[in-house]
Amino acid sequence: MTKAIAIDRYRIDRLLGQGAMGRVYLAHDPKLNREVAVKVLTARVDERTRERFELEARAIAVLKHPNIVELYDYSGRAGTDLYLVLEYVPGKDLYATLLERGPMRERTALCVAHELSLALQHAYRFKVVHRDIKPENVMLHRGRIVLADFGVIKVLEASALLGVDEIASHTQAIGTPGFMAPEQLEGHNLDHRCDIFAVGAVLYNLTTGHLPYESAVSEDGRFGRGDFVDPRTYAPELTDAFVELVKRCVAIKPRERFNDPDELRDAVLKGLAQHRVIEVRQLLEDYEVAVDTAEASESLPTPVSKGKARSGSGVVIALVAFVFGMAAGSAAFFWLARYVLGLLAPL
Ligand SMILES: Nc1ncnc2c1ncn2[C@@H]1O[C@H](COP(=O)(O)OP(=O)(O)OP(=O)(O)O)[C@@H](O)[C@H]1O
Ligand SMILES: [Mg+2]
Repeated sequence: MTKAIAIDRYRIDRLLGQGAMGRVYLAHDPKLNREVAVKVLTARVDERTRERFELEARAIAVLKHPNIVELYDYSGRAGTDLYLVLEYVPGKDLYATLLERGPMRERTALCVAHELSLALQHAYRFKVVHRDIKPENVMLHRGRIVLADFGVIKVLEASALLGVDEIASHTQAIGTPGFMAPEQLEGHNLDHRCDIFAVGAVLYNLTTGHLPYESAVSEDGRFGRGDFVDPRTYAPELTDAFVELVKRCVAIKPRERFNDPDELRDAVLKGLAQHRVIEVRQLLEDYEVAVDTAEASESLPTPVSKGKARSGSGVVIALVAFVFGMAAGSAAFFWLARYVLGLLAPL
C-alpha cells in the first residue's frame, strides 16, 4: 500500500490546479472531516516569496466576502512548506469551462461581471488591487462566482490589518499578458482601474474566446497599442451596449475606464436589465448545470427573444382581428346600406 501524502494534518488527495508560484491540491482535513484546497508554494522560497505569500494569506483572511475564496488556515511564514488552506470550490474555473463549452452568451458573461464587480467593490474598501483577474482565477460553483488567487495583489495604502506599513512607489510588471492593463504591463504605478481593465478583458474572452488587443504585447513585453478588435468580429450577436461596456473597461487610458467598481456594477446592471435578468445566481446555476450535463442551456432563447416571440404573436393576432374586423365591417356596411338606408338596389 502506498503511503498517503500529507501536509501537516491535511491528507493530499489530488492535484486541482497549478500556476506559476504553486500547486493547489484537494485534501482532507481529518480534524473537521471536510474537504479543503491546499495551495502549496513551489517557487523558490526566499524572504521575498515568504513575504508575498503572507500577504496573500492575510488579504484573503481580511477580505471575507461571498465572491472571494475563503481562507481556513495558513502555514505561517517560517518553515519549509508554505501553504494556505482554502475552502474547496468543487466547480470549474472559467478557463476550463470555456475550453469545454466554448464562448458564453452575453447575459451569462454579464452575470459573471456582476459578481466580480461585487468582489472588487469589497476589495477596494481595503485598498487591495487583485492584479490577476482572468478566467483561470475565477471559479463557478452552484451559481456562486468565486475570485481566487490573491498571489500578486497590490495594496495601495499602508494597512495594519494587512501588515503593510510601506508602499513601494514603483510597480513591477506582474500579471497575465492579455488581461493586463497597459500601465500594468509597463510597470507604471497602477491603481484599481487595472482590475476594471481585466474584467473587461474577461468579458471579451468569455464571449468570444479571444482577447481585446490580441497583438498588443510586443516582444519586449510592452504594450504594443494594437487596435481594439470589435468583439462582433468573433461573436456578431453581441449588442452595441455590451461592446460599449467592454470597450470602456479596456480603454487604454485609465481615466477613460469606469472610475471604480461601483460605476462598473451600475453599467453591468443596466446590461442585465436589458436582458431582463433579475436572478443572477440562478442564471449562473442554470448555466453550470448545463455544463455538467453537457446540455446547451446557452442555446435556450433569452427572455428578450421570448419577448420578441410574444410581440410577434401579437402582430399575428392583430392581423387576424383586422381581417375579421374588415369582413364584419363590410358585412355591416352592406346590411346598413341595403336594408336601412336603401342605397343599394335590391338584388
Ligand atoms: N479553493 C479552490 N478550490 C478548488 N480549486 C481551486 C481552488 N483554488 C484554486 N483552485 C484551482 O487551482 C488553480 C490554481 O490556483 P491559483 O490560481 O490560486 O494558484 P496559482 O495560479 O498557482 O497562483 P499564483 O498565480 O499565485 O502562482 C485555479 O485555476 C483553480 O482551477
Ligand atoms: Mg492562478
